[in-house]
Amino acid sequence: MEIQLWREILDPYGLAVNELVVKFNHIIEQYKHVGAYSPIEQVTGRVKTISSILEKSQKKNIDLKNFEDKIEDIAGIRIICQFVEDIYKVVDIIKKRSDMRIKSEKDYIDNMKKSGYRSYHITVYYNVETLQGTRELQVEIQIRTLAMNFWATIEHSLQYKYKQNMPEHIRERLSSAAEAILILDREMSVVRDEIMDAQNSFTIKANIVADILTNIQNLYKVANKQEVIRIQDEFFRIYQIGDREQLEQFSKELDMISERYHAQSLR
Ligand code: GTP
Ligand code: MG
Repeated sequence: MEIQLWREILDPYGLAVNELVVKFNHIIEQYKHVGAYSPIEQVTGRVKTISSILEKSQKKNIDLKNFEDKIEDIAGIRIICQFVEDIYKVVDIIKKRSDMRIKSEKDYIDNMKKSGYRSYHITVYYNVETLQGTRELQVEIQIRTLAMNFWATIEHSLQYKYKQNMPEHIRERLSSAAEAILILDREMSVVRDEIMDAQNSFTIKANIVADILTNIQNLYKVANKQEVIRIQDEFFRIYQIGDREQLEQFSKELDMISERYHAQSLR
């Protein structure tokens, strides 16, 4: 097949990857806006390279005539979570969406692969609009923790380096590293609630401060300068005490003052 033809075939997959990265990033934003903990830490995506498609087709005896059916991960999305619990939350989120239809799922977390690989895989059907009309494409979504991703990334490079001939002692090391990752994820789950509390209150505080600053900025345009300076000094005083409830109270009072001036911040 000509390179130009490959490019044409792969183009809609690029669109699917871009759209999905935007959509999953938007989920992170939505959690942040309400000051809540996001089960998604990070999203990445990629389109399989031509050489990697050719390699996989050869390895799995796939006829190039139907590689789009047979290779599920031409479009690949990777969702990284902080904790194992978050993975299942993300799976639920995906299942509830109307813009993707589940084709299959593989839980390599409950069923670790022999290599030590752990991840949750979902293959979905996803529609993109092209000049030629609607195309339904397969997308592979891999969901894993930061720790699982660390392991998979290292193991993947070693696989690449050794191809089929990974030395036994390296394989053993990877296997025990996988065991350590499993324990690390478990340990992290124990402190998850505490970590989430800390992250939550950090975001909530950041949101309150952002609101206050917008209000003060708007007041500068309409209110008496002396009064705004007084408000600003009061804000710095309360900010330095560092108590969230006081900040919240101050923010409410400021909202009322702003309302009087019709200067309330648009959020
Ligand atoms: P592939 O031919 O690799 O697609 O295997 P498969 O069709 O049996 O699907 P599977 O769900 O097992 O693997 C899909 C993808 O998961 C791979 O392309 C890798 O990105 C990842 N993966 C699966 N197994 C391993 C592993 O042992 N190590 C690493 N690093 N990644 C893996
Ligand atoms: Mg696969």
